[in-house]
Amino acid sequence: MINAVKTIGVLTSGGDAPGMNAAIRAVVRTSISNGLSVKGIRRGYAGLLEEDIIDMNNLAVSDIIQTGGTILYTARCREFKHEEYQKKGAEICRKHGIDGVVVIGGDGSFNGASKLAENGINTIGVPGTIDLDIACTEYTIGFDTAINTAMEAIDKLRDTSESHERCSIVEVMGRTAGHIALWTGIASGAEYILTAERFHGDIQRIITKVQDRRRLGKKNHIIVNAEGVGNSNEMAKLIELATGIETRATILGHIQRGGNPTCKDRVYASAMGAKAVELLCEGKTNRVVGYHHGEFLDFDIQEALSMEKSLDPYLFHITRKLTTR
Ligand code: ADP
Ligand code: F6P
Repeated sequence: MINAVKTIGVLTSGGDAPGMNAAIRAVVRTSISNGLSVKGIRRGYAGLLEEDIIDMNNLAVSDIIQTGGTILYTARCREFKHEEYQKKGAEICRKHGIDGVVVIGGDGSFNGASKLAENGINTIGVPGTIDLDIACTEYTIGFDTAINTAMEAIDKLRDTSESHERCSIVEVMGRTAGHIALWTGIASGAEYILTAERFHGDIQRIITKVQDRRRLGKKNHIIVNAEGVGNSNEMAKLIELATGIETRATILGHIQRGGNPTCKDRVYASAMGAKAVELLCEGKTNRVVGYHHGEFLDFDIQEALSMEKSLDPYLFHITRKLTTR
């Protein structure tokens, strides 16, 4: 089969995620083994507009599958939301002989990918975000590592909470989505999991639950709070005031985005990076790779962006039963 593209450009965009390097490696190595040239576009769309473009070969991606972060760097680039810069980006691709682009990032980055496609550059998105907030896929690169990092941190917090007989509010990332909170809350046996999707500001319910558990003899209380739900420090003060139990807030923050990717993140990122190149070789464009029911598939970007993702209802349902003492 004759490849529909000759030179592939690969970029990472938006928040970084562990496993992005494994995806870059897969793009580079699959391209080369299919007889294509590969260029790395550094710092996302910002680097594209500044022509921060480097040649890549097999050696350039050696020993990166196990590392967090992204060797291509990442950025957020406001200009790229404007048509003139999207056209400029496509022209720069043509100038550098790039006729296919793999964009590794989240929803925002896929919007940018779609604009490159509209401007004549074959473009495929690969879901890379710790937030798991992309509806067309059951898996996004980085989620598995992030939840394991958060879970380990919460396990440690529980030790000190127990010693001091305290309540702990742990704030995890997720932008506006509660997947990280739901998974880490279940995995760490949290007493309460707050997500923007399901929590409607009834702090009294949390207070009552903490009081009930304390009466039953529980010595520590873990509440997992998804970012965006409310101010964890303020909530900690309210709980302490109402219950008389010392309460501390811990905001896990960007540590959730770092660290060596888990086996799952490395393998899925490798498969998705390879799939993106195969799609470009087949002449596909304006598509995004997804994982659904055990298969790596592809979807139209607009269709993917219009889908809605909700929290897993069964996981949410069981939390009620599992969080009793
Ligand atoms: P993520 O890809 O993780 O969702 P962002 O929402 O920050 O992260 O988007 C990353 C980048 O994608 C933005 O900084 C911008 O360069 C590009 N982008 C986002 N939205 C659009 C859009 N509507 N049109 C073109 N480019 C966009
Ligand atoms: O999308 C990944 C993410 O880590 C979100 O969970 C979080 O809201 C956001 O990025 C933080 O972005 P920044 O790196 O700009 O602080």
